[in-house]
Amino acid sequence: MSNGASALSGPSVVLVTGGAGFIGSNFIRYLLEKTGFEGRVINYDSLTYAGNLMSLRDVDERFGGSRYFFEKGDICDYKKVEETFRRYEVDAVVHFAAESHVDRSIHGPKVFISTNVTGTFNLLEAARNSWGGRKDVKFHHVGTDEVYGSLGESGYFYETTPYSPRSPYSASKAASDHLVRAYFHTYGVPVTISNCSNNYGPYQFPEKLIPLSVLNALEGKPLPVYGDGRNVRDWLYVDDHCAAVWQILKQGRVGETYNIGGECEQQNLDVVNGICEILEELYPAKDNRELKKSAPAVRRYSELVKFVGDRPGHDRRYAVNCDKIKNELGWSRACSYEAALKHTVQWYLQNMEWAESIRSGEYLKWIGKNYGARDVT
Ligand code: NAD
Ligand code: DAU
Repeated sequence: MSNGASALSGPSVVLVTGGAGFIGSNFIRYLLEKTGFEGRVINYDSLTYAGNLMSLRDVDERFGGSRYFFEKGDICDYKKVEETFRRYEVDAVVHFAAESHVDRSIHGPKVFISTNVTGTFNLLEAARNSWGGRKDVKFHHVGTDEVYGSLGESGYFYETTPYSPRSPYSASKAASDHLVRAYFHTYGVPVTISNCSNNYGPYQFPEKLIPLSVLNALEGKPLPVYGDGRNVRDWLYVDDHCAAVWQILKQGRVGETYNIGGECEQQNLDVVNGICEILEELYPAKDNRELKKSAPAVRRYSELVKFVGDRPGHDRRYAVNCDKIKNELGWSRACSYEAALKHTVQWYLQNMEWAESIRSGEYLKWIGKNYGARDVT
């Protein structure tokens, strides 16, 4: 089924799932501060280890109770999801909520199936039941490029690339994409899907490569690099992702999928070394008291790089072709990798309080156990 019409020119109540997470919190801030959007945002989040309301403290202070509302809830709780749709008269959904970390999905896949698959199913059911046949509404599903599998030395992921997920995380995200498409074809729910590459920026949970490397370096801990460090990811600054999602929500053709990428392929080892260089410039290792305490022999951050055992099923290379969103919707990335990575490192340096707050929970126990297994503690 193909539909040429743009479904939504201006939503008035946007339900953002997973709004207390990394991209969700950046999206809410972006929507309220940078788009001219005049409606209300409902942040629906169950606050797992990855969700942190501190990431939205400024937003809450400015917009809380008038244009920003927080609902603590699980997307696996259908009753609560449907109640939220009806209470706020939601007319658009941006669905970020997910278990998002590949390594965790390897150690404990079950919650990935419940949140990413059943949770998405619940949201689709709530949309179908609350919206009936309405066409002036939209459900945008935030997907990942990992559903396409792994590339060799050359080539790109296109919207038409067959799905080939290789981790429990990407398999669960692939299942959710399929459900979203099925609800469009079967029930006519106005949906759009995006499949995006690796994001980085402020408020990213420090289990992911970039924030983990920044914080570990500052604390004089090893910087774990999996395998030979030559796996390639396509990096996109989070604000550019937010802009793309907003553009799709407003102008994207219903039933369509849009790839989003940074057109910025980097090998992991280069990313980690790049972070070390930026840190050397902003806060030289020789001035870092923490580093002197925990690793007195280390004179430069790059000496902390440590090759560790590879991630099972580690996808070798991701690279996204995003001609469709560029040509149809006029989106392109605005931020350069070099400038945005430096800004990101600077943000972590200036927001250690945030990092402490998010790391004080269950995460530390988990990371201790798994890093132990890789011999990097
Ligand atoms: P994140 O882990 O930082 O945040 C996930 C948020 O979802 C958290 O606030 C968490 O509390 C919430 N959540 C988890 N389970 C929930 C549940 N059952 N009910 C309600 N809330 C729940 O994730 P992120 O990196 O911000 O990713 C957001 C979305 O974007 C995910 O769908 C992910 O697959 C997708 N994505 C991420 C990237 C990336 O590089 N981070 C790239 C492409 C796509
Ligand atoms: O491609 C989009 C995906 O990007 C999103 O769908 C996921 O939600 C997001 O987590 C991210 O997945 P990755 O697995 O690519 O991100 P991560 O930061 O975990 O790892 C990036 C690369 O760095 C990957 O090749 C594994 C490697 N790595 C990761 C960690 C945490 C290391 O070498 N050492 C590490 O300590």
